[in-house]
Amino acid sequence: MRTPLIVGNWKMNLNTREATNLVKSIFAGVRGLGGIEVVVCPSYTALSAVSSALEKTNIGLGAQNMYTEPEGAFTGEISPLMLKDLGCRFVILGHSERRAVFGEKDALINKKVLTALKYSIVPIVCVGETLEEHERRETEQVIQRQFEGTFKDLTATDWKRTVIAYEPVWAIGTGRTAMPSQAEEAHAFIRELLASRVNEVADEVRILYGGSIKPDNFGKIMAQPNVDGGLVGGASLKAESFIEIVKSSLPKNETSGIKS
Ligand code: 13P
Repeated sequence: MRTPLIVGNWKMNLNTREATNLVKSIFAGVRGLGGIEVVVCPSYTALSAVSSALEKTNIGLGAQNMYTEPEGAFTGEISPLMLKDLGCRFVILGHSERRAVFGEKDALINKKVLTALKYSIVPIVCVGETLEEHERRETEQVIQRQFEGTFKDLTATDWKRTVIAYEPVWAIGTGRTAMPSQAEEAHAFIRELLASRVNEVADEVRILYGGSIKPDNFGKIMAQPNVDGGLVGGASLKAESFIEIVKSSLPKNETSGIKS
C-alpha cells in the first residue's frame, strides 16, 4: 500500500512572509486529514521561516535542488547538510527546469540522488519528455534513458526511500494536463522499469504525476492505479487550490489523520 504524496513546488516565488502565511493556511486546511502525506518545497531563502512555521505539524519540508557535496568551495551552492540543518526531509532533483535552463545532465542528477540518499534526504526525482519528444512518440525511450542515467547504483534500501515524479515537460505551466490514460501509461512503464531493476520494491516506490495539476483535473489522474500523488507547481501557490488537490487525493476510506 503506497501512501499518497502531494508535493507543492513553489519554484522561484514568494518572499519569507508570503511563504509563511501560505504554509499556515495550508496547514489550517489539511490538519485532521489522514492517509496522505503533504510536503512543501519553498525557495532556499524561505526554508528557515517555513520550517519554523511547520514545527509540530505533519507537513513535510523539501528543497528544490541541492549540490553533491556536504561542504567546500562551491560558491552559490547548497549542501545536503545545510538542508538537513533546516529540517528538510525531501529534495526535488532533476526537475525539467534544472535540466533545460541550467543544463543539468543525468550523470550529475545521479550523483545528487546518491548524495541525498547518503544523507537520509528523500529524493523526488523528475523524469519526462519534451513536447518534441512527445510528438515523435519517444516518451518511453526518454523516460528509460533518464531512468537509467539518474538511478544508477541505487540499492534496494535506497529505492524504498526514493520518489519518482513523471512530469511531461509539455504539461508544465502550460495548462495542458496529461490525460489520465496518458499519465497511467507512463507511470505503468516506469513501474515496469522498476520491476526489471529491483523487483522486490517496485510496488513500494511512489510515482507522482506533475504538470498543470488543478483541483478540477487531478481526481481522475489520481484515480489511476500507478499514480501515487502529485508534484504541483502553480496551483500550490494558493492555499485553497492546494488544499483542494490534497483533498481530491485522499484514499477513499480515510477521513482523519494529519496530526497537529
Ligand atoms: P505546474 O503545476 O505549474 O504546471 O508545474 C509543475 C511542476 O513543474 C512541478 O514541479
